[in-house]
Amino acid sequence: MPRIDQETVRKILDTADIVEVVSDFVKLKRSGANYMGLCPFHNERTPSFSVSKAKGVCKCFSCGKGGTPVGFIMEHEQLSYAEALRWLANKYNIEIKERELTAEEIAQASERESMLALNEFALQFFENKLFESDEGRAIGLSYFRNRGLTDAAIKRFRLGYSPEARDALASEAMKKGYSPELLASTGLCSRNDRGNLYDRFRGRVLFPVFTLSGKVVAFGGRTLKSDKTIAKYVNSPESSIYHKSSELYGLYQARRAIVQKNKCILVEGYMDVISMSQRGVENVVASSGTSLTDGQIALIHRFTQNVTVIYDSDPAGIKASLRGIDMLLAQGLNVKVLLLPEGDDPDSFAKAHSLEEIEAYMQANETDFIRFKTKILLDGLAANDPVARAGVINSIAKSISVIPDRVIRSEYTKECSRLMQTDEEIVTLQVAKYANENAEKSQTTKIPETSQEHTKEPTVVTRPTGRAVTDRLAYLRPAEMEVARLLVRYGLLTVAQVVDSEGEVRDLSVLDYVVNEFNSDDISFANPDLAKIFLSIQALSQAWDLELPVAMAQADSEARKYLDEARAGILAAGSVDAIRRKEEEANAAAEEIRRSAIAMASERFLTRALGADPDPQVRTLTTSFVSEKYSLSKIHTKGTHVPSERELLANKVPKAVYGLKIATLQWREKELRAGLVGLSGDEAAAVLSQLQQIREIIAQLAHYLGERIVLPK
Ligand code: UTP
Ligand code: MN
Repeated sequence: MPRIDQETVRKILDTADIVEVVSDFVKLKRSGANYMGLCPFHNERTPSFSVSKAKGVCKCFSCGKGGTPVGFIMEHEQLSYAEALRWLANKYNIEIKERELTAEEIAQASERESMLALNEFALQFFENKLFESDEGRAIGLSYFRNRGLTDAAIKRFRLGYSPEARDALASEAMKKGYSPELLASTGLCSRNDRGNLYDRFRGRVLFPVFTLSGKVVAFGGRTLKSDKTIAKYVNSPESSIYHKSSELYGLYQARRAIVQKNKCILVEGYMDVISMSQRGVENVVASSGTSLTDGQIALIHRFTQNVTVIYDSDPAGIKASLRGIDMLLAQGLNVKVLLLPEGDDPDSFAKAHSLEEIEAYMQANETDFIRFKTKILLDGLAANDPVARAGVINSIAKSISVIPDRVIRSEYTKECSRLMQTDEEIVTLQVAKYANENAEKSQTTKIPETSQEHTKEPTVVTRPTGRAVTDRLAYLRPAEMEVARLLVRYGLLTVAQVVDSEGEVRDLSVLDYVVNEFNSDDISFANPDLAKIFLSIQALSQAWDLELPVAMAQADSEARKYLDEARAGILAAGSVDAIRRKEEEANAAAEEIRRSAIAMASERFLTRALGADPDPQVRTLTTSFVSEKYSLSKIHTKGTHVPSERELLANKVPKAVYGLKIATLQWREKELRAGLVGLSGDEAAAVLSQLQQIREIIAQLAHYLGERIVLPK
């Protein structure tokens, strides 16, 4: 469904008058400041339905139903939020903009946004061709179906088809106002020798790549020809919106399942992901045929600590990928490995087995990495060759030495000595030796940045030394601490309401907000302890969904108790007007009690769970955040009301996040400045222009910070 833009939503909400809206259904009579009528939600003879023009709400004192104009229409007409908005727009003759962008608007949108918009256009174009064109159906759709994909899976992964014609997409996109430059910069098109644009993915089926926030940043196009001389897959090139090394195919679709199962399954290819997923194994992502990067691992780490890597049983491939496992270990992930039966890949395996069979196979064959690596390395070694055995022990000790958690390290050390039938002490010593070496190395070598290879313009490769890294962590720490503190204390509370792309209104929690902001700017906590607590909070937010109904029931009963007690006082009031006023006050107070009971329950839940986290650093941080001076003020204090921090979240949270963004940029600025020394003219010019850009963004953010930022309620 086409979305209603925010501005129009605002306009509808501002225009709709509660008295006018309710009057369409209820005969209202003025009564003091309010209007009264017979409640449309239940049968009654004496009016108890009250409408407050000033507050813009209505409410039945008898059955409790009512709300804002939108809420009233939703309830009365049984419509969704988006439908209710349309209903109101229609009543007030407000035009809902449901058009595509005009050429002018496209030109105005920033480069990045235009690229995303064009990709979105292309996504729909390819999807449409797959299902609606003769060529697409005959070639693309029948290919997918032959490979056993269901239509549901094809739609879930938004697969598409790019027609054979040289410029099928290009001409259509240009008609819509997208420029040739944009077609080239997104990589959707290339130029031939004569400078004409042609579609990059002609005649291929397409696998769109989504970011975590659901934006299409790239496509993988598979040829349908068996000709071995053409590349099987053609992928979008790196661009300012696509950094191959920091995306994982399928993560967007898999993220919920990953959290639910608390495990991420890693495979190689597009088809592997889709086949597993349509079988019901939905927590699957692919590194798309390349070796894992730290950025990709960090992405996984946001959702779970547990990774299972699936290999098809090709020994050469496995040996080559052992390094990838070390990287997973080094980032503190628990890694398991699953070998498929000879000749199978995840795609064929998923197609040949039921969900139950797959799960049973995994259960039975998942091995922890030490066992796996030992087996692989020992394979084919002469049984009692002491030198070879020592080599194996060293190699495994090396892997163990990168694991950050000391307890896990010692567990693995034990296991290794058991498997290799050596003294535990020997392995321990080896591990310690390598651990020392790693520490020394990290003092002198550069930390790999997530993406720097792809930039063609002259850039300085700053080489943060171990020292510089600690400096950076220290520099960012205060800003990160503030975000972390707000997350620990209020992560699950609703901070704003948003209308999603379906036009549905959703509660946005503090955590959701921070995650969205982090994703859209590609930042996260640099300090490892704060990164850990962030992960724990994300996992706990899923658990809270299960607790919520209980908390709500409890809150309801507290509110009801309050109303019961208030009733005597209300009825004792003299006039009908006074009764109504008191009733209204009591209802409002009860609602507040309900809301704050839920809020407090969620705060308690989160801080208790974090306080009991298995990780001591997480526990300590939690304690210090919770015992800070910010105590909750009583909601119903007499006299002056000092707003509690909780009431200020809509302002505090964005401020904290923007503060962190600024700090991140300021650090980058420092780094670039330091790197300027000794650069040639061209290089220096490039850096200076980067610096200029950064300063502009900082200024913008600071301006935003200075203004009163408040999230829409
Ligand atoms: P595979 O050859 O295993 O592809 O390469 P696949 O996804 O299983 O596809 P089917 O089953 O043959 O249709 C694994 C991944 O490596 C990348 C793709 O991301 C692919 O999904 N790849 C492979 C390329 O990028 N280019 C290539 O030429 C080949
Ligand atoms: Mn395959």
